[in-house]
Amino acid sequence: PRSYTIAVIPGDGIGLEVMPPALRCLEAAATRFGFKLEFRSFPWASCTYYLKHGTMLPSDWKELLQACDAIYFGAVGDPATVPDHISLWGSILAFRREFDQYINLRPCRLIPGVTSPLANRAGKPIDFFTVRENTEGEYSSIGGMIFEGTERETVIQNTVFTRVGVDRVIRYAFELARSRPAKKLTSATKSNGISITMPYWDQRVEEIAKEYPDVQVEKYHIDILCAHFVQRPHTFDVVVGSNLFGDILSDLGPACTGTIGIAPSANLNPSSRREDPNTPWFPSLFEPVHGSAPDIAGQGIANPVGMIWAGQMMLEHLGEKNAADAMMRAIETVLGRAKDGAGGGLNILTPDMQGKGTTEELGSAIEQEIARAA
Ligand code: NAD
Ligand code: IPM
Ligand code: MN
Repeated sequence: PRSYTIAVIPGDGIGLEVMPPALRCLEAAATRFGFKLEFRSFPWASCTYYLKHGTMLPSDWKELLQACDAIYFGAVGDPATVPDHISLWGSILAFRREFDQYINLRPCRLIPGVTSPLANRAGKPIDFFTVRENTEGEYSSIGGMIFEGTERETVIQNTVFTRVGVDRVIRYAFELARSRPAKKLTSATKSNGISITMPYWDQRVEEIAKEYPDVQVEKYHIDILCAHFVQRPHTFDVVVGSNLFGDILSDLGPACTGTIGIAPSANLNPSSRREDPNTPWFPSLFEPVHGSAPDIAGQGIANPVGMIWAGQMMLEHLGEKNAADAMMRAIETVLGRAKDGAGGGLNILTPDMQGKGTTEELGSAIEQEIARAA
């Protein structure tokens, strides 16, 4: 039978809580649809590991991950014990850069059952993707401090846009827009204020747009785009942005659909092929959009849907389309049913969805629904 090796990195905080039910959902999908998943669990890329070893990663982390077909990642960060820039640059940001996962694909959809004050605007669904540049831009390691410790202390961090880096994410976004019914691309910019890098971004969008005459293109400065997300989220289809703008929009989008607890994310290197002996294998990584949520960690009430939906994206990426479709249906069925008062009702929804349920209860309900998928 078909078989996949998955690196499992739970991380910190609620990452440790949403991972187990999500793995059970993936198991259920594999059993139901006749393939095998081998999970290799790693305790590193966590602050717990850092506090014991003084590093976020073991020296052979790359080989360990490259021996897998995909990476399934929870969330990292414990700002009370380890500064965020150390834990994050030593884990998820290192994976994205070292494995050249240059696309961060983040779907944003209104799910039946998830209450949002912005739902049903103009009777239209919310259904769009954020395509975030994921390896360069504002997240650069170029810069430093001068005149340290004096009144003239100065810090500088440079934004880096390469032609290759900008073009490949814009082209990916155009291809995605072309594949969807609305065929519309929105570019996030700030070329009025950020006067060198952002006009360059706009210019590359205009240039590449010539290859896609069938796609409608628009651009907005990031400030007003945030306002439009709140006031008319139903009008977006594919939104492309730099690393930082994409980061911001991909929390704002899911918040507009009710909670960031349901939002998934795929860190993709769409060009790397494991079977190609001439190029290094760069596995893609699947994670929820949210972080380790120290404010609710340990309470067992984290929403597991972001983690489960990320698993759904991973199965789709691995080519298990039927299983992926069944997982999505299961998420929608369980949440929709709960809202209608059936299948455990509000007792099954986690508090971020106005319910009284736990991570385990909601995860188990989705797992059971996947197991009985038609
Ligand atoms: P966060 O996403 O962890 O939490 C923001 C808010 O949303 C909190 O109130 C939290 O309780 C809530 N929330 C998040 N996920 C939820 C879920 N599944 N169910 C219910 N509520 C949920 O963001 P933050 O507070 O800015 O960051 C906390 C830590 O996580 C920091 O160390 C940060 O650097 C890190 N972080 C890591 C990742 C990642 O690993 N990819 C992503 C974002 C933040
Ligand atoms: C995300 C997170 C990360 C990012 C942080 C934790 C470095 O917010 O995945 O959206 O900014 O990319
Ligand atoms: Mn983020």
